This record gives sequence, C-alpha cells and structure tokens, in this order.
Amino acid sequence: MRPKSILVTGGAGYIGSHMLLTLSRAGFKTIAFDNLSSGHRIPMFTGDTVIGDIQNEALLSDLFSRHHFDAVMHFAASIEVGESVMHPEHYYENNVVATLQLLKTMRAHRVCHLIFSSSAAIYGEPIYTPLDEKHPCQPLNPYGRSKYMIEQMLADFAKAYDFHYIALRYFNAAGADPSGLLCEQHTPETHLIPLALQAAKTGQPLTVYGCDYPTSDGTCLRDYIHVNDLCDAHLLALEAVWQQKTSGCYNLGSGQGYSVQEVIDTARLITGLPIPVTYATRRPGDPTRLVANADLAKEQLGWQPRYSDLPTIIKHAWAARAPLDSLLSI
Ligand SMILES: NC(=O)c1ccc[n+]([C@@H]2O[C@H](COP(=O)([O-])OP(=O)(O)OC[C@H]3O[C@@H](n4cnc5c(N)ncnc54)[C@H](O)[C@@H]3O)[C@@H](O)[C@H]2O)c1
Repeated sequence: MRPKSILVTGGAGYIGSHMLLTLSRAGFKTIAFDNLSSGHRIPMFTGDTVIGDIQNEALLSDLFSRHHFDAVMHFAASIEVGESVMHPEHYYENNVVATLQLLKTMRAHRVCHLIFSSSAAIYGEPIYTPLDEKHPCQPLNPYGRSKYMIEQMLADFAKAYDFHYIALRYFNAAGADPSGLLCEQHTPETHLIPLALQAAKTGQPLTVYGCDYPTSDGTCLRDYIHVNDLCDAHLLALEAVWQQKTSGCYNLGSGQGYSVQEVIDTARLITGLPIPVTYATRRPGDPTRLVANADLAKEQLGWQPRYSDLPTIIKHAWAARAPLDSLLSI
C-alpha cells in the first residue's frame, strides 16, 4: 500500500504551496493547514484547506479526528533569521513548541510518518565546504537553533516510539514552478533572487552586503536549490519513511556555489533590465561560502535535482505570475 493522504502544514507559504501542487500532480489527497501568519494564498487547484494554528491543540486534534493522514509534511515555521535574534521567544514557541504540539497530536492519532523542513542554518559557520551531514551543528541564531532542537526532538521520538521521519536540510530555496502559477513571496522579503527581480521591476537599488569576501568577485557564495527539486525530494523522502521505515537527515542543495554578483548578473541577463545596486558592509554572521554536499540524498533517496542551475531558477522566478484566478485569496 502506498501513502495517499498528506497533511501539509504551512501550505500557504512559498515551499508548502509548491508541495501541494507537486502532491496533487502525483495523485495524493492533501489538506493544507496554515494560520496565514506569513503565507499568502493557497492554490485552489489542490486539495482542502484549513486555516488554523498548529499551536491550537483542540483544532489540530479535531482535524486529525476528522481526517485520516498517512503522513505529515511540516513546513509551517517562522523563518526570518534577523527577527529570530530580536524575538527568540516567538521562534522557540512557533517552531519548537508548535512542532512538539504537532508530534503529540500525531502520536495520539497514530500518524507516524513525518517529513520536516530543516535548514542549512543548523550548521552555523562552516568549518569546511561543501557541507555534508556530518558537519558539526553549531547554529548561530535562534532560528537555526530552533530547527536543530526540532531535529533532536524528532530523533528522540524515532528512538522511543513507532515514528519515522526525514529532516531535509534545505540550502537556499529559489525559483518557481515552470507553470508560472506560484511564486516566491515573503513579507518582508529577504531572499536574494526575489529581491533582485524586484529591483529589476522597480528600479529601486538592491543592497549587497559585503564586497570584500575572499571570493573571485568579493561577494559571498550561496547554494540555490530549485523549489521543484525540493518538492521532488519530499516525495522520495515520503517513499523512504513509508516503505523502509527509516529516519534521518539529508542536505538538499545543488552543490554549486554562486556569488551574489553572479546572481545579479544572471538576473540582468534574463530580465534584460539593469538592476541598480548599492554596496554595504558585511552583515555579522554571513559566512563566505555556504555550499551543500547533497550526495547522501542522491545515494539513499535516489534524488536528482533537475532545475537547479542558476539561469533556470531565475528564468522560472521571473516568469512566475501567480494569476489571481488560480489562487484562493484569503
Ligand atoms: N525558503 C528557504 O530558502 C528555506 C530554507 C531553509 C528552510 N526553510 C524552511 O522551509 C519551510 C517553508 O519555508 P517558506 O520559505 O515556504 O516560508 P513561508 O513563510 O513562505 O511559509 C511558512 C508558512 O507557515 C505558516 N505558519 C507559520 N507558523 C504557523 C503556525 N503556527 N501554524 C500554522 N501555520 C503557520 C505561515 O503562514 C506560512 O504560510 C520553513 O519551515 C522554513 O524554515 C526554508
């Protein structure tokens, strides 16, 4: 028997909405659960939607009583590093405590498969690159620590109970579904590619933090992974937890580092627009290079990224229009 019915927390967000689309294309029945604290719209061409907070024990329990779920894909979180430094209480509450609430509800309703959105932020300052899963985890901020605490919680649950999980440690999610139906949208937006495209559209300058890094053009290097490649990895992870009853953590990245300057130059080429830039000093805690070694996901899950070269990522992000008639606006 294959899993059929999936609860997607954070389904109104950037990655969660892409996951709903991927799951619906693959024939799964889905329920999206989101409190709309930062998500925008839920694609109406996918399954059902429940607006609510995973910290709401009664609502969550009622949801699990009314629906049978084979697995949960858990995207819901607060995700801003800077905000997490200013408001750590919120990050431990909305990420760690809320996830514990979700796990308790899953256990009470005998749902024992989970795919978790972890982050490269759990590694902290790289000791070596590319980073593999054995790299020490020394997160530099409450956001990264909240993700690491959740991973530890998941490992303890898997040891003690009939519970199987895969934590996927994303590097920089980027791009959009090639259909153009969904796009990356955060408020505030802090991710480089949407900011560069916004600068192309508006003519307002994009701020580049640090141009004196020891790299070929002085700007720092990051690993961008196409959102659809992330979603493919979730399907494979689901198959692994379901069939092999396995648990573990996997990096998801392209293995290729692109500098901030290369991203801007590629975005200029693709949009045909100038993208004005202002240069500022480095931000504290921004490492020179953050590049993934994702061999483990390739070897053990059979994952192969298809879209994660920079020009394709930016082309898809630029083409994304998110037409209102394809979305349920709430
Ligand atoms: N975007 C990236 O590059 C990236 C990188 C690493 C990890 N991640 C992780 O991937 C996941 C999804 O990221 P995203 O970029 O789609 O973020 P997003 O902000 O677009 O989506 C998160 C969604 O979760 C919802 N949410 C937050 N708290 C909730 C709660 N208590 N109850 C119900 N819903 C709640 C928000 O309303 C939002 O729709 C997050 O867990 C994030 O930490 C993202």
